Amino acid sequence: MTLPRVYVCRRLPDRGMDLLRGGADVRVWDQNEVPPPRDVLLREASQAFGLVSLLTDRIDDELLSQAPKLRVVANYAVGYDNIDVDAATRRGVVATNTPDVLTETTADLAWALLMAAARRVVEADAFTRSGKWRSWQPELLLGQDVHGRTLGLVGLGRIGAAVARRAQGFGMRVLYHDVVRREDLEGKLGIQFRPLESVLVESDFVSLHTPLTPQTRHLINADRLRSMKPTAVLVNTSRGPVIDEAALYEALKNGTIWAAGLDVFEREPLATDSPLLTLPNLIALPHVASASFETRSRMAEMAAANCLAVLAGRAPANPINPGVVTRLGLREGA
Ligand code: DGY
Repeated sequence: MTLPRVYVCRRLPDRGMDLLRGGADVRVWDQNEVPPPRDVLLREASQAFGLVSLLTDRIDDELLSQAPKLRVVANYAVGYDNIDVDAATRRGVVATNTPDVLTETTADLAWALLMAAARRVVEADAFTRSGKWRSWQPELLLGQDVHGRTLGLVGLGRIGAAVARRAQGFGMRVLYHDVVRREDLEGKLGIQFRPLESVLVESDFVSLHTPLTPQTRHLINADRLRSMKPTAVLVNTSRGPVIDEAALYEALKNGTIWAAGLDVFEREPLATDSPLLTLPNLIALPHVASASFETRSRMAEMAAANCLAVLAGRAPANPINPGVVTRLGLREGA
């Protein structure tokens, strides 16, 4: 039996690769550190029935128009701003993502950034290693208290809610803003809805959990940064362009806000000569919020299962454009 060709844009953890190899003729981009160049991606997509893409691979109308056999794009991420979903829908290509499995791991990292920025963990580590530590000092590396303060969440999806749950243990007041008010969660999580501006003004810590859309691009701009407390800490584990990075640089440099912890950037990888990296009050991570062994394995398994389901004529568990699934008459377990 001839198996359908699937192109995988980077080698995934074994659980996903093994699953894919069981049901498809798998080709893989073999360089782990960089995505396939555009010409390679276009060429491979033109022959593939399935693509397993990463957030670094642009799946746009140009690619889809040159991929006549393509039936599914299975993104190895919960975010899918790298995919032109409308174009996929027009062309009858099912797109899928990997929600839920990375929620808790991502929330853990948002908290790691929050705590590290508040208590200057990275600076303190560098200080210890530098040989500057002469003795205990009353005012050495003072930071911001986390317990009992106010946490503001911008976006209350799965990850925002998981971040809120962790705040209960720190006795924090939690405010949130989302385009959809989640009254169902307010009592359970002990959180209060506010307009975005109030979340920014009232919070000691602001953590971003919105998808990247035209509406959220540069949501956190110079004006909004100015409205925050001078002691505030900003955390971003969503998508880099949600923050206007030039404005953030100025805000951190001038003390408009106190510190930031970022896992995501407007341009990734962040250039080593980025002015952001000159700031001691910024922590910069290389987009690793979901990077635990177990979570990345579960994401791989999920992306592989989504891909294979469509190729076998079944509905995938995590469609982004369910209308296509219906149009194609794909059913779960069929
Ligand atoms: C996602 O899934 O969207 C993250 O950014 C990477 O895990």
